[in-house]
Amino acid sequence: MSATTALYAIGAAALGAALGPIRRRVELSRAKHRSLAGHARLARRVACLVPFYEYEEARFFSSDDAPDEIVAQRRAGFQRLAALYAARFPESAGRTAALAEGVSDLQFTGAYRVPFQYSRFVRQHLHGGSLLASSDGVTVVDLDGNRLYDLSGSYGVNLFGYEFYKACVDRAVGEARALGPVLGAYHPAVEYNVARLKAISGLDEVSFHMSGTEAVMQAVRLARYHTRRTHLARFCGAYHGWWGDVQPGVGNPVPARETYTLRDMSEEALRVLRRRRDIACVLVNPLQALHPNANAPGDSALVDSGRRAGFDRTAYTEWLRRLRAVCTERGIPLILDDVFTGFRLAPGGAQEYFGVRADLVTYGKTLGGGLPVGVVCGRRDLMKRFREDRPADVCFARGTFNAHPYVMAAMREFLRALETPAFAERYRDLDAVWNERAERLNRRLQDEDLPVQVANLSTIWTTLYMRPSRYNWMLQYYLRAEGLHLSWVGTGRFIFGLDYTAADFDAVADRFVAAARAMSAGGWWWSGAATTNRSIRRRILREIIAHRF
Ligand SMILES: Cc1ncc(COP(=O)(O)O)c(C=O)c1O
Repeated sequence: MSATTALYAIGAAALGAALGPIRRRVELSRAKHRSLAGHARLARRVACLVPFYEYEEARFFSSDDAPDEIVAQRRAGFQRLAALYAARFPESAGRTAALAEGVSDLQFTGAYRVPFQYSRFVRQHLHGGSLLASSDGVTVVDLDGNRLYDLSGSYGVNLFGYEFYKACVDRAVGEARALGPVLGAYHPAVEYNVARLKAISGLDEVSFHMSGTEAVMQAVRLARYHTRRTHLARFCGAYHGWWGDVQPGVGNPVPARETYTLRDMSEEALRVLRRRRDIACVLVNPLQALHPNANAPGDSALVDSGRRAGFDRTAYTEWLRRLRAVCTERGIPLILDDVFTGFRLAPGGAQEYFGVRADLVTYGKTLGGGLPVGVVCGRRDLMKRFREDRPADVCFARGTFNAHPYVMAAMREFLRALETPAFAERYRDLDAVWNERAERLNRRLQDEDLPVQVANLSTIWTTLYMRPSRYNWMLQYYLRAEGLHLSWVGTGRFIFGLDYTAADFDAVADRFVAAARAMSAGGWWWSGAATTNRSIRRRILREIIAHRF
């Protein structure tokens, strides 16, 4: 080889080496969703730039430049609602306000029920309270004795109805009492739980934790330990608990440097998984099937009517199959985070529902039979916490309350019930029942020309708004006035228990329609001829810029 040829060869190799990282960087950029949720670091930076400002009373009612008669209508509607709240929820509201002085979580959830520009005024006048006295069937009772249909689902824990979990906990207390809160050694209930969880997950081993967040932490840590790779890949918008590495964007004060946030259901994401060598695991939350690439919907982000959702089972199943194939091809552990959806979609969880097997599965919420829990099920080779040939190279997982006897006993109650024909029956035609209920409600809303609809993934629902508006978040207050109890994310998420009968559901649907009617009569859904979701967002951007500079 001549000297010139050798130089060319060295040059080409050097260029190739330099281009490789650039190409991978470009591929990664292409595999990000174009929204801010898809760009975690940018989202954090942008969030830090948004200044606080709020609407004084007059602007509160006319922030969309509605004509005077609509503004008057809104004001009258608001006053009626405020009077109703004052009369109906005095004890609940008063004691919640006093409690909030010392409970930071209440201050946070109280402030973030609606977009911040409206928040203070709403808090002053529409305070329903966050204290509840009891639950009974599908209802809860507040401190003023009001009975409300529960649509909060206790963050998804409540699958079989509150009475079921009360019984699980009562029996568990009796069964665990002899051992009491002895930790470190195991209560024999663990034997049954492990056997059942292995059968349900189709995986070899189980570990117990105290929350879903910790289960996810452990699954990711194990994947990193065994693959000796650094990065976890998650999909845009997916929630996996509040540990830093799985929450790389807004809400986490430090950047998550070893997390890739990829676009859900995308070819480019698969390409990144195929090409990169540093990916230790892929995390999937099947709940995203309802709103791929979007954050969990909450009313504090409901600045316009742009919220979109819709579940396509065939498309999502196909996506999971393709993802599974790429993970297998590349030796990347696939972690199915079934903390929310586990047991809710099918007795065998999302694996059964979508017909896709994972290498590690995390469970939590309802599995604890009413007590706090997190569980990891996994392949034997991935669950192992030490290396035979390197005795000092271990993977820690601790937790004082792991496998707490009372929790194990309550879990056993849950799993025992799941094996009975009566509980199997509850899953029969589950999707058909809940899809029909959603369709029926949507038809009623359409028939009355009310610009609101619902979308659902089985018993998990979200509310969609069909006409551009800045005031959709008001619906949560009308729903409460009609006796529906929502979680602090408002109309973003309704979670039904399987104990909701047809009659219970009809009662909820009647109230939902009545609330939407009242909201409409209050003028909140007035929309100017030129108003679009885009024009609303532009306007808010202008306000933000004006307040910032
Ligand atoms: C999919 C998923 N993973 C993890 C978690 C975190 O669980 P926990 O709140 O018990 O820590 C949640 C909680 O909502 C979840 O929905």
